[in-house]
Amino acid sequence: MTEYALITGASKGIGKSIALLLAKAGYNLLLVARSETALLDLSVLIQKDYNVKVAVLAIDLSAEGAAENTAKWCKSQTSVLTVLINNAGYGLWGAFSQLSITDQMNMLQLNIRAVVELTYHLLPLLKQQKQAYIMNIASTAAYQALPNFSLYAASKTFILNYSRAIRYELKHSVVAVSCLCPGPTDTAFASRAGLDAFADLAAKFNMAPGEVAETGLKGMFDKKAEIIPGFLNKVSSFFASHLPKAMIEKIGAGLYTR
Ligand SMILES: NC(=O)c1ccc[n+]([C@@H]2O[C@H](COP(=O)([O-])OP(=O)(O)OC[C@H]3O[C@@H](n4cnc5c(N)ncnc54)[C@H](OP(=O)(O)O)[C@@H]3O)[C@@H](O)[C@H]2O)c1
Repeated sequence: MTEYALITGASKGIGKSIALLLAKAGYNLLLVARSETALLDLSVLIQKDYNVKVAVLAIDLSAEGAAENTAKWCKSQTSVLTVLINNAGYGLWGAFSQLSITDQMNMLQLNIRAVVELTYHLLPLLKQQKQAYIMNIASTAAYQALPNFSLYAASKTFILNYSRAIRYELKHSVVAVSCLCPGPTDTAFASRAGLDAFADLAAKFNMAPGEVAETGLKGMFDKKAEIIPGFLNKVSSFFASHLPKAMIEKIGAGLYTR
């Protein structure tokens, strides 16, 4: 296969699982994250097991100009980009007024700005293909306001609505846009978010990253608008969208309070 997939946040977690599955399907890979060592290790692993090309870019996507530079790097690697996975992201747990504003703005730069800019700069190339796919990773947190996770949840609501809107705009084009909304997944996410105190609770509900990646990719290739992996996550997202907002916010606040 001559086709390439670009995956952000590919060094671990859900992004790494997506990379492995796309390699198995024969895609050449462009892997992006901050940790060069982890990306190179993954590249060696993939090239040992699969007959695909892998290039890596170690970059902090929350930095000014990083998404545009990533798009330039991508274009220097291939003219046959058919899959873009905007997966890199993280959360910060805590009250809005008590978390550092610098840290919170940095999270928004990655969760929102990098996704929008990378998509903008790569869309022309994706439109040149016979068929292309974009999958943005949001969260079940996208379906409600979440006290003590306010900006993270809001950033994922942005990603969900942004994905749906550009999907509509692109409906007569060759580019299909999907949004994957995972619930709790067994990755480094909870630890980076400062949620270690909830590890026991999360362990009861966590899905495996491989399972999330598999469901996500199936939905993306089926051109689904929204993909919620796991029955419990589907049910909780349904209730979050349909029950009175004040009730859902109280339940959400209760879940993430210690
Ligand atoms: N795990 C969950 O419970 C859960 C639930 C819902 C949604 N999600 C979403 O799923 C996506 C993947 O998260 P995950 O659970 O797989 O978490 P993870 O294991 O922490 O992986 C996050 C990935 O993003 C990369 N990354 C982080 N900051 C970056 C930056 N500034 N620039 C470039 N890359 C960066 C990380 O690599 P480096 O550290 O090497 O940069 C890593 O590859 C995120 O968008 C997250 O919000 C996760």
